[in-house]
Amino acid sequence: MAKAKKATVFFCQECGYESAKWMGQCPGCKQWNTFVEETVVTGSGTNKHAGSVSHTERREPSCLSSVSTDEEERMTSGMEELDRVLGGGIVQGSLTLVGGDPGIGKSTLLLQVCKNLSDTEHKVLYISGEESLKQIKIRANRIGKISDNLLLLCETNLEIIEDTIRRIKPEVVIIDSIQTMYHEEVSSAPGSVSQVRESTSTFLQLAKGLNVSIFIVGHVTKEGTVAGPRVLEHMVDTVLYFEGDRYASYRILRGVKNRFGSTNEIGVFEMRSEGLTEVKNPSEFMLNGRPEDASGSVVACSMEGTRPILIEIQALVCRSNFGFPKRQAIGTDYNRVNLLMAVLEKRVGLQTADCDAYVNLAGGMKIQEPALDLGIVMAIASSFKNRPIDEKTICFGEVGLSGEVRAVAMAEQRIQEAEKLGFTTCILPRVCLDQVKKKPGIKLIGVSSVQDAMEAIG
Ligand code: TYD
Ligand code: MG
Repeated sequence: MAKAKKATVFFCQECGYESAKWMGQCPGCKQWNTFVEETVVTGSGTNKHAGSVSHTERREPSCLSSVSTDEEERMTSGMEELDRVLGGGIVQGSLTLVGGDPGIGKSTLLLQVCKNLSDTEHKVLYISGEESLKQIKIRANRIGKISDNLLLLCETNLEIIEDTIRRIKPEVVIIDSIQTMYHEEVSSAPGSVSQVRESTSTFLQLAKGLNVSIFIVGHVTKEGTVAGPRVLEHMVDTVLYFEGDRYASYRILRGVKNRFGSTNEIGVFEMRSEGLTEVKNPSEFMLNGRPEDASGSVVACSMEGTRPILIEIQALVCRSNFGFPKRQAIGTDYNRVNLLMAVLEKRVGLQTADCDAYVNLAGGMKIQEPALDLGIVMAIASSFKNRPIDEKTICFGEVGLSGEVRAVAMAEQRIQEAEKLGFTTCILPRVCLDQVKKKPGIKLIGVSSVQDAMEAIG
Protein backbone atom coordinates (compact mmCIF):
# COMPACT_ATOMS: atom_id res chain seq x y z
CA MET A 1 0.00 0.00 0.00
CA ALA A 2 1.31 3.45 -0.91
CA LYS A 3 2.54 5.57 1.93
CA ALA A 4 0.22 8.40 2.94
CA LYS A 5 1.52 11.82 1.87
CA LYS A 6 0.44 15.15 3.18
CA ALA A 7 0.23 18.12 0.88
CA THR A 8 -1.29 21.54 1.21
CA VAL A 9 -3.61 22.76 -1.49
CA PHE A 10 -5.63 25.95 -1.77
CA PHE A 11 -9.38 25.60 -2.33
CA CYS A 12 -11.87 28.25 -3.34
CA GLN A 13 -14.51 28.08 -0.61
CA GLU A 14 -17.20 29.14 -3.07
CA CYS A 15 -16.84 26.73 -5.95
CA GLY A 16 -14.19 24.24 -4.88
CA TYR A 17 -11.57 25.33 -7.44
CA GLU A 18 -8.26 23.75 -6.53
CA SER A 19 -4.90 25.46 -6.86
CA ALA A 20 -1.32 24.81 -5.74
CA LYS A 21 -0.81 28.45 -4.78
CA TRP A 22 -2.91 31.17 -3.25
CA MET A 23 -4.76 33.47 -5.61
CA GLY A 24 -6.65 36.67 -5.00
CA GLN A 25 -9.41 35.94 -7.48
CA CYS A 26 -10.78 32.51 -8.25
CA PRO A 27 -10.47 31.68 -11.97
CA GLY A 28 -13.47 29.36 -11.60
CA CYS A 29 -16.16 31.56 -10.09
CA LYS A 30 -14.43 34.98 -10.24
CA GLN A 31 -14.97 35.61 -6.52
CA TRP A 32 -12.30 37.52 -4.62
CA ASN A 33 -10.43 36.37 -1.56
CA THR A 34 -12.03 32.95 -1.31
CA PHE A 35 -8.90 30.75 -1.27
CA VAL A 36 -8.09 28.89 1.93
CA GLU A 37 -5.17 26.57 2.50
CA GLU A 38 -6.14 22.99 3.40
CA THR A 39 -4.11 19.89 4.03
CA VAL A 40 -5.04 16.89 1.98
CA VAL A 41 -3.79 13.36 2.46
CA THR A 42 -2.91 11.50 -0.70
CA GLY A 43 -1.94 7.87 -1.04
CA SER A 44 -3.23 5.27 1.42
CA GLY A 45 -5.34 7.72 3.42
CA THR A 46 -7.91 8.88 0.92
CA ASN A 47 -7.99 5.63 -1.01
CA LYS A 48 -8.98 3.69 2.04
CA HIS A 49 -12.72 3.77 1.37
CA ALA A 50 -12.46 3.04 -2.31
CA GLY A 51 -10.18 0.11 -1.54
CA SER A 52 -12.45 -1.49 1.00
CA VAL A 53 -15.50 -1.26 -1.28
CA SER A 54 -13.86 -2.75 -4.35
CA HIS A 55 -12.44 -5.53 -2.22
CA THR A 56 -15.78 -6.78 -0.96
CA GLU A 57 -17.94 -6.02 -3.97
CA ARG A 58 -15.94 -6.46 -7.12
CA ARG A 59 -18.23 -6.08 -10.10
CA GLU A 60 -17.77 -7.40 -13.63
CA PRO A 61 -18.50 -5.08 -16.57
CA SER A 62 -21.79 -5.95 -18.24
CA CYS A 63 -23.44 -5.17 -21.56
CA LEU A 64 -26.53 -2.97 -21.77
CA SER A 65 -28.87 -5.74 -22.91
CA SER A 66 -28.23 -7.66 -19.71
CA VAL A 67 -29.26 -4.71 -17.56
CA SER A 68 -32.83 -4.99 -16.34
CA THR A 69 -34.98 -1.97 -17.11
CA ASP A 70 -37.47 -2.47 -14.32
CA GLU A 71 -38.61 0.71 -12.69
CA GLU A 72 -36.28 1.83 -9.94
CA GLU A 73 -37.63 0.90 -6.58
CA ARG A 74 -39.21 3.90 -4.98
CA MET A 75 -40.87 4.44 -1.67
CA THR A 76 -43.26 7.20 -0.88
CA SER A 77 -42.15 9.89 1.53
CA GLY A 78 -45.73 10.32 2.67
CA MET A 79 -45.77 13.82 1.22
CA GLU A 80 -47.14 14.15 -2.27
CA GLU A 81 -45.42 17.47 -2.80
CA LEU A 82 -42.00 16.01 -2.04
CA ASP A 83 -42.62 12.83 -4.02
CA ARG A 84 -43.47 14.86 -7.08
CA VAL A 85 -40.26 16.88 -6.89
CA LEU A 86 -38.26 13.66 -6.47
CA GLY A 87 -39.89 12.30 -9.64
CA GLY A 88 -42.32 9.90 -7.95
CA GLY A 89 -40.87 8.97 -4.58
CA ILE A 90 -37.56 8.23 -2.91
CA VAL A 91 -35.33 6.06 -5.09
CA GLN A 92 -33.51 3.34 -3.20
CA GLY A 93 -29.78 3.87 -3.05
CA SER A 94 -29.99 7.51 -4.09
CA LEU A 95 -28.09 10.43 -2.63
CA THR A 96 -30.11 13.64 -2.32
CA LEU A 97 -28.90 17.07 -1.30
CA VAL A 98 -31.41 19.40 0.34
CA GLY A 99 -30.11 22.97 0.33
CA GLY A 100 -31.58 26.14 1.74
CA ASP A 101 -31.08 29.17 3.97
CA PRO A 102 -30.69 28.53 7.68
CA GLY A 103 -34.04 28.45 9.44
CA ILE A 104 -36.07 27.81 6.32
CA GLY A 105 -37.25 24.41 7.56
CA LYS A 106 -34.90 21.76 6.16
CA SER A 107 -34.62 19.86 9.44
CA THR A 108 -38.38 20.09 9.95
CA LEU A 109 -39.10 18.76 6.46
CA LEU A 110 -36.74 15.83 6.83
CA LEU A 111 -37.92 14.97 10.32
CA GLN A 112 -41.46 14.83 8.96
CA VAL A 113 -40.29 12.54 6.18
CA CYS A 114 -38.68 10.38 8.87
CA LYS A 115 -41.96 10.30 10.75
CA ASN A 116 -43.94 9.24 7.67
CA LEU A 117 -41.40 6.60 6.70
CA SER A 118 -41.15 5.14 10.17
CA ASP A 119 -44.95 5.04 10.40
CA THR A 120 -44.95 2.84 7.30
CA GLU A 121 -42.46 0.41 8.84
CA HIS A 122 -39.30 1.69 7.20
CA LYS A 123 -36.14 1.75 9.24
CA VAL A 124 -34.80 5.29 9.34
CA LEU A 125 -31.66 6.79 10.89
CA TYR A 126 -31.48 10.53 11.55
CA ILE A 127 -27.97 11.78 12.20
CA SER A 128 -27.67 15.28 13.54
CA GLY A 129 -24.45 17.18 13.93
CA GLU A 130 -26.17 20.40 14.86
CA GLU A 131 -28.73 19.66 17.52
CA SER A 132 -28.87 17.59 20.69
CA LEU A 133 -31.30 14.70 21.12
CA LYS A 134 -33.34 16.92 23.39
CA GLN A 135 -33.69 19.63 20.77
CA ILE A 136 -34.76 17.06 18.20
CA LYS A 137 -37.31 15.67 20.64
CA ILE A 138 -38.79 19.13 21.18
CA ARG A 139 -39.18 19.58 17.44
CA ALA A 140 -40.58 16.07 17.08
CA ASN A 141 -43.21 16.81 19.73
CA ARG A 142 -44.53 19.62 17.57
CA ILE A 143 -45.00 17.46 14.52
CA GLY A 144 -46.60 14.48 16.25
CA LYS A 145 -45.87 11.06 17.64
CA ILE A 146 -42.99 9.27 15.98
CA SER A 147 -42.68 5.50 15.89
CA ASP A 148 -39.68 3.60 17.24
CA ASN A 149 -38.56 2.70 13.74
CA LEU A 150 -36.80 6.06 13.75
CA LEU A 151 -33.36 5.99 15.33
CA LEU A 152 -31.49 9.14 16.26
CA LEU A 153 -27.77 9.74 16.51
CA CYS A 154 -25.89 12.90 17.42
CA GLU A 155 -22.49 12.52 15.82
CA THR A 156 -20.13 14.39 13.53
CA ASN A 157 -17.28 11.92 13.17
CA LEU A 158 -17.54 10.37 9.73
CA GLU A 159 -15.91 7.08 10.64
CA ILE A 160 -18.29 6.44 13.52
CA ILE A 161 -21.24 7.36 11.30
CA GLU A 162 -20.06 5.04 8.55
CA ASP A 163 -19.64 2.22 11.03
CA THR A 164 -23.11 2.82 12.51
CA ILE A 165 -24.79 2.81 9.11
CA ARG A 166 -23.04 -0.42 8.14
CA ARG A 167 -24.06 -2.01 11.43
CA ILE A 168 -27.70 -0.88 11.65
CA LYS A 169 -28.46 -1.08 7.92
CA PRO A 170 -31.30 1.47 7.77
CA GLU A 171 -33.30 2.02 4.58
CA VAL A 172 -33.10 5.79 4.77
CA VAL A 173 -30.46 8.00 6.39
CA ILE A 174 -30.65 11.74 7.01
CA ILE A 175 -27.44 13.71 7.49
CA ASP A 176 -28.09 17.08 9.13
CA SER A 177 -25.89 18.85 8.03
CA ILE A 178 -22.95 18.04 5.75
CA GLN A 179 -21.10 21.14 6.98
CA THR A 180 -20.74 19.69 10.47
CA MET A 181 -19.27 16.34 9.43
CA TYR A 182 -15.55 15.73 9.58
CA HIS A 183 -13.07 13.01 8.75
CA GLU A 184 -10.18 12.75 11.17
CA GLU A 185 -7.56 12.26 8.48
CA VAL A 186 -8.52 15.46 6.72
CA SER A 187 -6.98 18.17 8.82
CA SER A 188 -9.03 21.16 7.71
CA ALA A 189 -12.04 22.40 9.67
CA PRO A 190 -15.56 20.95 9.23
CA GLY A 191 -17.40 22.81 6.50
CA SER A 192 -14.29 23.35 4.39
CA VAL A 193 -14.21 22.13 0.83
CA SER A 194 -12.04 19.08 1.46
CA GLN A 195 -14.08 17.95 4.47
CA VAL A 196 -17.38 18.37 2.65
CA ARG A 197 -16.01 16.58 -0.38
CA GLU A 198 -14.63 13.71 1.66
CA SER A 199 -17.88 13.30 3.60
CA THR A 200 -20.02 13.39 0.50
CA SER A 201 -17.94 10.79 -1.27
CA THR A 202 -18.20 8.53 1.78
CA PHE A 203 -21.99 8.89 1.77
CA LEU A 204 -22.08 8.29 -1.97
CA GLN A 205 -20.26 4.99 -1.55
CA LEU A 206 -22.51 4.00 1.34
CA ALA A 207 -25.65 4.83 -0.64
CA LYS A 208 -24.57 2.85 -3.68
CA GLY A 209 -22.86 0.06 -1.76
CA LEU A 210 -25.57 -0.66 0.81
CA ASN A 211 -28.54 0.51 -1.28
CA VAL A 212 -29.69 3.01 1.34
CA SER A 213 -31.25 6.32 0.38
CA ILE A 214 -29.35 9.19 1.94
CA PHE A 215 -30.54 12.77 2.33
CA ILE A 216 -27.87 15.37 3.00
CA VAL A 217 -28.73 18.79 4.37
CA GLY A 218 -26.54 21.62 3.11
CA HIS A 219 -26.59 25.25 4.16
CA VAL A 220 -26.55 27.93 1.56
CA THR A 221 -24.21 30.92 1.55
CA LYS A 222 -25.33 34.49 1.04
CA GLU A 223 -24.60 34.12 -2.66
CA GLY A 224 -27.17 31.35 -2.88
CA THR A 225 -24.97 28.35 -3.51
CA VAL A 226 -24.55 25.45 -1.12
CA ALA A 227 -21.76 26.64 1.19
CA GLY A 228 -18.41 25.99 -0.33
CA PRO A 229 -19.00 23.19 -2.65
CA ARG A 230 -20.59 23.29 -5.96
CA VAL A 231 -18.40 20.20 -6.06
CA LEU A 232 -21.08 18.63 -3.97
CA GLU A 233 -23.80 19.22 -6.52
CA HIS A 234 -22.28 17.02 -9.18
CA MET A 235 -21.51 14.20 -6.76
CA VAL A 236 -25.10 13.64 -5.68
CA ASP A 237 -28.03 12.23 -7.68
CA THR A 238 -30.57 14.86 -6.80
CA VAL A 239 -30.31 18.46 -5.65
CA LEU A 240 -33.34 20.10 -4.06
CA TYR A 241 -33.52 23.67 -2.85
CA PHE A 242 -35.91 24.70 -0.15
CA GLU A 243 -36.70 28.37 -0.51
CA GLY A 244 -39.17 30.99 0.48
CA ASP A 245 -39.50 34.30 2.13
CA ARG A 246 -38.67 34.06 5.82
CA TYR A 247 -41.54 36.40 6.50
CA ALA A 248 -44.10 34.55 4.43
CA SER A 249 -45.36 31.22 5.68
CA TYR A 250 -45.14 29.25 2.47
CA ARG A 251 -42.03 27.38 1.32
CA ILE A 252 -41.14 26.09 -2.10
CA LEU A 253 -39.12 22.96 -2.75
CA ARG A 254 -37.48 23.07 -6.15
CA GLY A 255 -35.54 20.39 -7.99
CA VAL A 256 -32.31 21.74 -9.49
CA LYS A 257 -30.86 18.44 -10.59
CA ASN A 258 -32.52 15.04 -10.69
CA ARG A 259 -31.11 11.86 -12.16
CA PHE A 260 -34.47 10.12 -11.67
CA GLY A 261 -36.99 12.66 -12.92
CA SER A 262 -37.72 16.12 -14.20
CA THR A 263 -36.34 19.25 -12.56
CA ASN A 264 -39.32 21.40 -13.46
CA GLU A 265 -41.54 20.34 -10.62
CA ILE A 266 -42.01 22.29 -7.43
CA GLY A 267 -43.55 21.37 -4.11
CA VAL A 268 -45.38 23.97 -2.05
CA PHE A 269 -45.55 23.82 1.74
CA GLU A 270 -46.81 26.05 4.48
CA MET A 271 -44.97 26.41 7.79
CA ARG A 272 -47.38 26.13 10.68
CA SER A 273 -46.93 25.71 14.38
CA GLU A 274 -47.30 21.94 13.96
CA GLY A 275 -44.69 21.69 11.20
CA LEU A 276 -44.93 21.86 7.44
CA THR A 277 -48.22 21.14 5.74
CA GLU A 278 -48.63 20.52 2.04
CA VAL A 279 -50.34 23.15 -0.07
CA LYS A 280 -52.31 21.10 -2.57
CA ASN A 281 -53.72 24.07 -4.42
CA PRO A 282 -51.09 26.82 -4.60
CA SER A 283 -53.18 29.06 -6.87
CA GLU A 284 -55.86 29.47 -4.25
CA PHE A 285 -53.16 30.17 -1.70
CA MET A 286 -51.43 32.78 -3.85
CA LEU A 287 -54.62 34.63 -4.71
CA ASN A 288 -55.70 34.96 -1.10
CA GLY A 289 -56.42 38.54 -0.07
CA ARG A 290 -56.61 40.03 -3.56
CA PRO A 291 -57.82 43.62 -3.65
CA GLU A 292 -61.21 44.18 -5.25
CA ASP A 293 -61.73 46.65 -8.02
CA ALA A 294 -58.19 48.02 -7.86
CA SER A 295 -56.32 49.33 -10.86
CA GLY A 296 -52.96 47.82 -11.68
CA SER A 297 -53.86 44.32 -10.56
CA VAL A 298 -54.34 41.35 -12.87
CA VAL A 299 -54.12 37.59 -12.52
CA ALA A 300 -51.76 35.69 -14.79
CA CYS A 301 -50.95 32.02 -15.09
CA SER A 302 -47.49 30.50 -14.96
CA MET A 303 -46.50 26.86 -15.31
CA GLU A 304 -44.19 25.28 -12.78
CA GLY A 305 -43.38 21.95 -14.36
CA THR A 306 -46.69 20.30 -15.07
CA ARG A 307 -48.56 22.45 -12.61
CA PRO A 308 -50.27 25.74 -13.40
CA ILE A 309 -50.01 28.45 -10.75
CA LEU A 310 -52.20 31.52 -10.84
CA ILE A 311 -50.56 34.61 -9.54
CA GLU A 312 -51.56 38.21 -9.07
CA ILE A 313 -49.39 40.76 -10.82
CA GLN A 314 -49.50 44.23 -9.34
CA ALA A 315 -48.21 47.39 -10.95
CA LEU A 316 -48.04 50.93 -9.71
CA VAL A 317 -47.27 53.66 -12.20
CA CYS A 318 -47.08 57.24 -11.01
CA ARG A 319 -45.55 60.49 -12.12
CA SER A 320 -41.89 60.79 -11.24
CA ASN A 321 -40.65 63.63 -9.09
CA PHE A 322 -37.18 63.44 -10.52
CA GLY A 323 -35.78 63.67 -13.99
CA PHE A 324 -34.79 60.05 -13.88
CA PRO A 325 -37.80 57.77 -13.35
CA LYS A 326 -37.48 54.89 -10.96
CA ARG A 327 -38.34 51.36 -12.00
CA GLN A 328 -38.54 48.33 -9.77
CA ALA A 329 -39.48 44.70 -10.24
CA ILE A 330 -40.08 42.36 -7.31
CA GLY A 331 -40.32 38.65 -8.08
CA THR A 332 -39.73 39.08 -11.77
CA ASP A 333 -36.96 40.21 -14.10
CA TYR A 334 -36.22 43.94 -13.91
CA ASN A 335 -34.89 44.13 -17.45
CA ARG A 336 -37.95 42.37 -18.77
CA VAL A 337 -40.19 44.97 -17.12
CA ASN A 338 -38.18 47.79 -18.71
CA LEU A 339 -38.43 46.10 -22.07
CA LEU A 340 -42.19 45.64 -21.78
CA MET A 341 -42.62 49.29 -20.83
CA ALA A 342 -40.68 50.28 -23.93
CA VAL A 343 -42.99 48.07 -26.02
CA LEU A 344 -46.04 49.74 -24.43
CA GLU A 345 -44.67 53.18 -25.20
CA LYS A 346 -43.75 52.47 -28.80
CA ARG A 347 -46.57 50.12 -29.89
CA VAL A 348 -49.52 51.33 -27.86
CA GLY A 349 -48.45 54.93 -27.31
CA LEU A 350 -48.57 54.81 -23.52
CA GLN A 351 -46.40 57.75 -22.41
CA THR A 352 -44.70 56.18 -19.42
CA ALA A 353 -41.26 57.69 -20.02
CA ASP A 354 -41.55 60.16 -17.14
CA CYS A 355 -43.29 57.78 -14.75
CA ASP A 356 -41.99 55.70 -11.87
CA ALA A 357 -43.10 52.10 -12.20
CA TYR A 358 -43.17 49.28 -9.68
CA VAL A 359 -44.13 45.72 -10.56
CA ASN A 360 -44.69 43.09 -7.89
CA LEU A 361 -45.72 39.43 -7.92
CA ALA A 362 -48.00 39.17 -4.91
CA GLY A 363 -47.16 36.56 -2.31
CA GLY A 364 -43.39 36.77 -2.74
CA MET A 365 -43.19 34.26 -5.59
CA LYS A 366 -40.28 34.50 -8.01
CA ILE A 367 -41.20 33.69 -11.59
CA GLN A 368 -39.29 34.33 -14.80
CA GLU A 369 -41.60 32.63 -17.28
CA PRO A 370 -42.27 34.76 -20.41
CA ALA A 371 -45.95 33.75 -20.25
CA LEU A 372 -46.34 36.43 -17.56
CA ASP A 373 -45.44 39.18 -20.10
CA LEU A 374 -49.01 39.88 -21.09
CA GLY A 375 -50.04 40.11 -17.45
CA ILE A 376 -47.24 42.57 -16.67
CA VAL A 377 -48.15 44.71 -19.67
CA MET A 378 -51.82 44.78 -18.71
CA ALA A 379 -51.14 45.56 -15.07
CA ILE A 380 -48.91 48.49 -16.05
CA ALA A 381 -51.46 49.82 -18.53
CA SER A 382 -54.26 49.42 -16.00
CA SER A 383 -52.37 51.37 -13.37
CA PHE A 384 -51.31 54.05 -15.84
CA LYS A 385 -54.88 54.62 -17.01
CA ASN A 386 -56.16 54.11 -13.48
CA ARG A 387 -58.76 51.71 -14.83
CA PRO A 388 -59.31 48.39 -13.01
CA ILE A 389 -59.40 45.16 -14.96
CA ASP A 390 -62.37 42.86 -14.37
CA GLU A 391 -61.35 40.63 -11.48
CA LYS A 392 -62.69 37.48 -13.11
CA THR A 393 -60.26 37.93 -16.01
CA ILE A 394 -57.01 36.08 -16.36
CA CYS A 395 -54.34 36.44 -19.04
CA PHE A 396 -51.18 34.81 -20.27
CA GLY A 397 -48.92 35.12 -23.32
CA GLU A 398 -45.43 36.13 -24.31
CA VAL A 399 -44.95 39.64 -25.67
CA GLY A 400 -42.46 40.27 -28.48
CA LEU A 401 -40.63 43.47 -29.36
CA SER A 402 -43.10 44.46 -32.08
CA GLY A 403 -45.91 44.21 -29.59
CA GLU A 404 -47.08 40.85 -30.89
CA VAL A 405 -48.50 38.30 -28.45
CA ARG A 406 -46.79 34.97 -29.00
CA ALA A 407 -47.83 31.42 -28.23
CA VAL A 408 -46.96 29.73 -24.95
CA ALA A 409 -46.97 26.04 -24.08
CA MET A 410 -49.70 24.18 -22.22
CA ALA A 411 -52.51 26.67 -22.80
CA GLU A 412 -55.12 24.00 -22.08
CA GLN A 413 -53.88 23.34 -18.52
CA ARG A 414 -53.72 27.05 -17.76
CA ILE A 415 -57.30 27.59 -18.88
CA GLN A 416 -58.46 24.60 -16.89
CA GLU A 417 -56.88 25.93 -13.72
CA ALA A 418 -58.44 29.36 -14.27
CA GLU A 419 -61.85 27.81 -14.80
CA LYS A 420 -61.46 25.68 -11.69
CA LEU A 421 -60.89 28.80 -9.61
CA GLY A 422 -63.92 30.57 -10.99
CA PHE A 423 -62.47 32.91 -13.63
CA THR A 424 -64.88 33.70 -16.45
CA THR A 425 -62.69 35.37 -19.07
CA CYS A 426 -59.28 34.37 -20.36
CA ILE A 427 -57.14 36.51 -22.64
CA LEU A 428 -54.62 34.35 -24.46
CA PRO A 429 -52.48 34.39 -27.62
CA ARG A 430 -54.66 33.97 -30.72
CA VAL A 431 -52.43 31.17 -32.03
CA CYS A 432 -53.22 29.17 -28.91
CA LEU A 433 -56.98 29.40 -29.54
CA ASP A 434 -56.94 26.62 -32.16
CA GLN A 435 -55.16 24.24 -29.83
CA VAL A 436 -57.66 24.40 -26.99
CA LYS A 437 -61.16 23.07 -26.58
CA LYS A 438 -63.97 25.56 -26.04
CA LYS A 439 -65.37 25.49 -22.55
CA PRO A 440 -68.79 26.67 -21.46
CA GLY A 441 -67.67 28.21 -18.18
CA ILE A 442 -64.97 30.50 -19.48
CA LYS A 443 -64.89 32.97 -22.36
CA LEU A 444 -61.70 32.78 -24.40
CA ILE A 445 -60.42 35.93 -26.10
CA GLY A 446 -57.56 35.39 -28.53
CA VAL A 447 -55.31 38.40 -29.10
CA SER A 448 -52.45 38.79 -31.55
CA SER A 449 -51.00 42.04 -30.29
CA VAL A 450 -50.77 44.10 -27.12
CA GLN A 451 -53.07 46.62 -28.81
CA ASP A 452 -55.73 43.87 -29.19
CA ALA A 453 -55.41 43.01 -25.54
CA MET A 454 -55.92 46.64 -24.52
CA GLU A 455 -59.09 46.78 -26.62
CA ALA A 456 -60.32 43.50 -25.14
CA ILE A 457 -60.34 44.95 -21.63
CA GLY A 458 -61.78 48.23 -22.87
P1 TYD B 1 -35.62 24.28 10.88
O1 TYD B 1 -36.20 23.03 10.32
O2 TYD B 1 -34.87 24.20 12.14
O3 TYD B 1 -34.71 25.02 9.80
P2 TYD B 1 -33.32 24.58 9.14
O4 TYD B 1 -33.06 23.18 9.51
O5 TYD B 1 -33.55 24.79 7.66
O6 TYD B 1 -32.30 25.54 9.66
O7 TYD B 1 -36.86 25.30 10.98
C1 TYD B 1 -36.77 26.35 11.79
C2 TYD B 1 -37.93 27.28 11.70
O8 TYD B 1 -39.19 26.70 11.51
C3 TYD B 1 -37.96 27.97 13.01
O9 TYD B 1 -37.76 29.34 12.78
C4 TYD B 1 -39.28 27.66 13.61
C5 TYD B 1 -40.10 27.16 12.49
N1 TYD B 1 -41.02 26.07 12.89
C6 TYD B 1 -42.38 26.29 12.89
O10 TYD B 1 -42.85 27.39 12.58
N2 TYD B 1 -43.22 25.26 13.23
C7 TYD B 1 -42.75 24.02 13.58
O11 TYD B 1 -43.54 23.13 13.86
C8 TYD B 1 -41.33 23.82 13.57
C9 TYD B 1 -40.77 22.48 13.95
C10 TYD B 1 -40.50 24.86 13.21
MG1 MG C 1 -31.54 22.46 10.76
